Order: sequence, then structure tokens, then C-alpha cells
Amino acid sequence: MPVPIILDCDPGHDDALAIMLAAGDPAVDLLAITTVAGNQTLEKTTLNARRVCTVAGITGVPVAAGCDRPLVQPLSVADDVHGVSGLDGPSFPEPTVGVVREHAVDLIHRLLAEHPEPVTLVPTAPLTNIALLLTRYPQDADRIREIVLMGGSTERGNRTPAAEFNIRTDPEAADIVFRSGVPVTMCGLNVTHQALATPEVVARFEGLGTSLGRTCAELLTFFASTYRTLWGFPSPPLHDPVAVARVIDPGLVRCVDANVVVELNGRYTRGATVVDLHGSTGRPVNARAAMSLDADPFWDRMVAAVRVLGARTHPADRQPPPS
Ligand code: BDR
Ligand code: CA
Repeated sequence: MPVPIILDCDPGHDDALAIMLAAGDPAVDLLAITTVAGNQTLEKTTLNARRVCTVAGITGVPVAAGCDRPLVQPLSVADDVHGVSGLDGPSFPEPTVGVVREHAVDLIHRLLAEHPEPVTLVPTAPLTNIALLLTRYPQDADRIREIVLMGGSTERGNRTPAAEFNIRTDPEAADIVFRSGVPVTMCGLNVTHQALATPEVVARFEGLGTSLGRTCAELLTFFASTYRTLWGFPSPPLHDPVAVARVIDPGLVRCVDANVVVELNGRYTRGATVVDLHGSTGRPVNARAAMSLDADPFWDRMVAAVRVLGARTHPADRQPPPS
């Protein structure tokens, strides 16, 4: 049975591919896509989610907009990484996929109540929506099977030397999530930097011969240019789909148990995830920290999902009807 998930995201180039993986892989059942301010303003991340759903032919999955700013601090977007639109690179048609009226937090609350089994939340963005859900509806914790998030790091950061973007953008929200008691798996930079979109990977998307495959190649090409300029990466790391992949096949992403706390006060380290890998603090385990990715099968799943979605939307790939 596919695992029911809700993807909470801020598209974002890597979020865009996380949406496609979640919608195109048969091991998960994507119940909803919710958006939050992060890589860009809420207005832009929501528009981008609708754009991705439109070009990928993802219909019947509700898209809901959530929080437009972090819980405490002002929003600081990542236009240096994702461009002014949040999804620079390809040109997108006017989206035909709409947005539901319900606030993202209320939609998640309703879906958790309605679904016959506990649901996995996959946040690939600042944790504002998830923290608000757990604060407003504490009883929902029992309806969440686990939270598998992209954020943090067992090592260094990217937004600051110490802090990763999703956690640094809303540290108070991340603190609420890690202290919630809900099982949390943290897919941090230390593992997502193993998902490098090399030229060979980009060529695989192009080689699908569909417009969706080309869109993915264009997204990755833009993402590569900012990662090269900002950090000198030869190929960009595709962070967010790693969290989806962990749900699809836990064997793809090896994890260890650890205590994780979020630094809220550090003069230079606010938003850092302090991951106790060796039990040296004596603090109890409250998370699984992802440590290594099986990269080749990860890319196989990612490309397969785009192939499935692309075949649905690209007329040349449609099989002729049986005669
Ligand atoms: C995270 O920050 C965002 O820019 C990406 O979408 C990803 O979720 C990586 O630090
Ligand atoms: Ca993201």
C-alpha cells in the first residue's frame, strides 16, 4: 500500500522535483501540497507549486497556501539561489491548477482527521506551517505517522556557516517540531549533498524526450549556475527529493538515532541543528538523522517519476490506443 503523505514546500527548484517525485512514484500517495514562505514569498511559492502541477499534469491533489512569514523573525528569501520568481530558468505557461481556499494548516488538520491511517508529513521548507499545526491542534500529533523533513545538517550550514536555510529561516518553528514528540527524520545537508545533479543526471532528464523532462533539465541548469557562483559546487545538490525518497524506500537513506536541538540564541549560530551523534550530551533521542544516500537508485526513482508524469502530459509519448 502506498504511504499517504502531505508535502509542505516552498518551490524552489528542488521542491519542484520533490513534488514530481511525490506525485509520480507509486510508493507514496500524495494527499496534498501545501506551501509556505521560504525560498520566495508565499504568493510566489504558491504560484510555483501551481506551475509545477500544471506542467507535470498533477491534478486532483489540493494545493493550499499557508503561512506568509516565520513565527518570530522577518522573512528573508533565497532569491540568490532560486531567482526572483523562486523558480527561475524555464518559462511556464499560465497555471491551470488552482489553489484551494482553505489555509494549509487547516487542510492538513482536516486530512489528518479524515484519513483512515496516520499520515506522513514531508516538509521541505521552513517549518512554520508544521509548527503552527502542532501548536493549534496538539491532538494531531497522534495522527501523524512521522515527519520526514529536509533541513538542518550534522555538519555545517549553507545560509550561515552554522545554519541550513530551512531551519535558519524559522528557528522557533523548527524548535517546536523537534520538541513535539512526533517521530522526526532529519534529512540535512550532510546527506542531500550526496544527491548531486551532475551533467549526466541532467542528460537523463533531457533524454526522456518530453517537455517535462526538458523543464527539469532547465531547472537543474539554473540551479547549477547559482550553486556554482555562490558555493563553487561543480553540480548542485537536489536537497528536497531526498526527504521524499526516504519515505518511498527507507533503504535509500540510511539514518541513525540522535538527539537534535535547534540553536535559538547563538550569536553566530542561530538556526544551527545541534546533532548529538555519539550520545555525549546525555539528552534523549528525539530524531533520526539521515547520514548517507544510495545515490544511483535515488536518481533512478527520480527520473522514473518524471518519466511517468511526462508520458501522461506529452502527446508524443502517449501509447496509441489498442485497436
Ligand atoms: C533548502 O533550502 C532551500 O533553498 C531548498 O529548497 C531546500 O529546501 C536547502 O538548504
Ligand atoms: Ca525547499
